[in-house]
Amino acid sequence: MAIGVGGIQAIRWDGRRLSLLDQTLLPGSEVWLTPAGAADVAEAIGRLAVRGAPNIGIAAAYGVALELSARPSLGALEEACDVLIASRPTAVNLAWAVERVRAACLGAGPSTLASAARGEAQKIHAAEDAASLAMGALGADWLVERGVRTLLTHCNTGALATGGRGSALGVAITLAERVEGVRVIACETRPLLQGARLTAWELDRLGIPHALIVDGAAAGLLARGAADAVIVGCDRVAANGDTANKVGTYSHALAAAAASVPFLVAGPTSTIDASTPDGAAIVIEERAADEVLTLAGVGVAPPGTPVINPAFDVTPASLITALVTERGIAAPVSAESVAELLAS
Ligand code: MRU
Repeated sequence: MAIGVGGIQAIRWDGRRLSLLDQTLLPGSEVWLTPAGAADVAEAIGRLAVRGAPNIGIAAAYGVALELSARPSLGALEEACDVLIASRPTAVNLAWAVERVRAACLGAGPSTLASAARGEAQKIHAAEDAASLAMGALGADWLVERGVRTLLTHCNTGALATGGRGSALGVAITLAERVEGVRVIACETRPLLQGARLTAWELDRLGIPHALIVDGAAAGLLARGAADAVIVGCDRVAANGDTANKVGTYSHALAAAAASVPFLVAGPTSTIDASTPDGAAIVIEERAADEVLTLAGVGVAPPGTPVINPAFDVTPASLITALVTERGIAAPVSAESVAELLAS
């Protein structure tokens, strides 16, 4: 069965204009933003209108291109890179993509700054699309060999979050194309409900059978054999394989280990950061208290309650059964297997 991407796309570029699907309004309404320059793209990234590690890299790359189309100068290049890199700290794809565009611009002459930025952004976008398809195929091979049918996932890792059809969700889609009976259990993913609002929306459009659970239900369901594997995306993979992903991922990894259920991480090699030695060195984004104090805009705690709101947590490599990338699969996950992937 060919599933495709269900017509889902979060970033459109027509050669001049960037359009970003405002994910904060999904699933209620589909509104497209048309940022004028780097500051608008940075603002959209900061409030998660565009989100997911690969997609914030792609959007930021186009953000530099937009800025240089309006103001083609080295000063504008530096300002654009700075504002975009500062918009979110944890997903390495953001700084990685911006640095790639910066380098392409610095290698170009002053009169070709804007076209160099546009060209590099399009290359990054096309490469992430291709990476998504390749990791989907490799991950599905791994799961087919082990007879996996029901996958538990966290946050949103589909076409809304990446180029192509997704990372972890891309693997699930490819699996569903290959074998009958695939089903996805999606965790709602408090506080911003990317699982409930976005993953359930994507799975519905894709026609893949699924069920939504509250995050706290995952461990008990895994212990009762409700899923054959857990598969999640990643925002930064350190050189030793420790992986930062949406907060709550670490709990699922612990629960999967306790239940002897394989725990897979899927992501493009652009999410591997060889310059970060281990998980302890990954900067974890702390977000506003309001995200915890409210649910869909309605207060759920006494106003002013002190809050701790890390957007990500780190799963140690020792809890990750396999790291699926477009270049291959690292299993077991270690400094050696990650270095081998990067060298391939
Ligand atoms: O805060 P978000 O929604 O950008 O967090 C996204 C995630 O944690 C995803 O799992 C990760 O970026 C991988 S997306 C392929």
